[in-house]
Amino acid sequence: MKIPCYICGLGSYVPSHSVTNGDMEKLVQTSDEWIVSRTGIRERHFLAEGEQVSDAGAAAARAALEDARLSPDAVTHVFVATCTPEYLSPSTACVIAGKLGLPSSSGRGAAVMCLDFNAACTGFVYGLELARSVLQGSPEAVVLLIAAEALSRRMNFADRSTCVLFGDAAGAVALRSCPEGGLWEVRDVTCASDGSLCELIKIGGGTARSVAEGDVLGPDFFISMQGQAVFRHAVRSMTEESQHILERNGLGVDDVELFIPHQANLRIIQAVGERLGLEPAKVFVNLANYGNTSAATLPLAMCDARKEGVLRPGMKVLLTSFGGGMTWGSVLLT
Ligand SMILES: CC(C)(COP(=O)(O)OP(=O)(O)OC[C@H]1O[C@@H](n2cnc3c(N)ncnc32)[C@H](O)[C@@H]1OP(=O)(O)O)[C@@H](O)C(=O)NCCC(=O)NCCS
Repeated sequence: MKIPCYICGLGSYVPSHSVTNGDMEKLVQTSDEWIVSRTGIRERHFLAEGEQVSDAGAAAARAALEDARLSPDAVTHVFVATCTPEYLSPSTACVIAGKLGLPSSSGRGAAVMCLDFNAACTGFVYGLELARSVLQGSPEAVVLLIAAEALSRRMNFADRSTCVLFGDAAGAVALRSCPEGGLWEVRDVTCASDGSLCELIKIGGGTARSVAEGDVLGPDFFISMQGQAVFRHAVRSMTEESQHILERNGLGVDDVELFIPHQANLRIIQAVGERLGLEPAKVFVNLANYGNTSAATLPLAMCDARKEGVLRPGMKVLLTSFGGGMTWGSVLLT
C-alpha cells in the first residue's frame, strides 16, 4: 500500500547580515550592473561571525515545527541537506538535534535518527524522496527535513565570477503520513545525477588533500565552478525533469498553479520557464534578495511565496532544482 507523505509545516531563516552588490564592489572588481544583468541578484546574507549553519538550521526547524503545531519531542528523523556542513563529523543533523533539545528529558529523543546528506543544490528535492521512503516503511514517523547552507564560509573572494552568486540561509519542512494539518501532499519526486560531471562545481575542505598545521589555503579549499557549462546543464536538466514528472503524473504544464525553481540565476529561471511554456506570473522568483543559497533555496522560496499569498495549501506546485554532482530533480506537490 502506498503511504502518503504530507508537508505539515514550513519554516526558514535568513541571517540578518545583508551584503548588497554595492558591498561586493568593495571586495572584488565587480559592479551592481554586471551582477544584476547576469544573475538578477541584488543582495545576499552571510552568517555573522560565530553564527553557525546549525544555528540557521535550528531556527528554520523551530519555525517549521511551530507551523506544524508539533513539539520537537514528536520528531523521529532529522535529515539535513547541506554541502557546507559544520564539521566532517559530527553531522550537522546531530548538532541541530542537540540545539532543538533532542534527546528530550523524556528519553524519547534517543530514538531519533539524525543524518546529513549532500546533493548540493538539489538537496531539498533528494530529501523529500528520503522522507517519502521513511514514511513508507514507518508511517508513524515525523520527519524534519532541513536544508541549511553556509556558502559564505567557502567563497573565494579572488574569484569574482563565483563569489557574487551565493548566500547563506536555511529552510525546513515537517513531514508526516497523516493528512490532518497537511499543507501539501508530496505526490511525486524524481532524483537524477551524472557523476561524470563532478568537476563542474566543487567545494573544497574535504579529505581530497592532506593538510598540516600552518599550510596556506589554496583555491581548492573554496567553491569553484565552470559557470557556462553549469548554466547550459541547468537549463536542460530542470526543463527535462519538469516535463518528465508532469508526464508521468498525467499532467500538462497548464495544470501547474505555481512553479518554484532553484534560485540560482534569473536567466536560468526565465529560460526554463519559457521552454516549459509557463506564464511568467506562475514562476516564483525571490533570488534578488538572497542569491543562491544552494539546498535552502526551495524551502525559502516556498516560505516567501506563502507569505506573499501566491502559494496556498493544496495548490499544484512544481519544484525543480539542479546542483553540484551534477544532481537534479523535480517534485510535484498537490
Ligand atoms: C557565473 C555566470 C553568472 C557568469 O556569466 P557569463 O555570462 O557566463 O560570464 P563569463 O564567465 O563568460 O564572463 C564574462 C566576462 O565577465 C567577467 N566577469 C565575471 N564575473 C564578473 C563579475 N562578478 N563582475 C564583473 N565582471 C565579471 C569575466 O571576467 C568575463 O570578462 P572577459 O570577457 O573580459 O574575460 C554564469 O555563467 C552563470 O550564472 N552560470 C551558472 C552558475 C550557477 O547557477 N551556479 C550554481 C549552480 S547550483
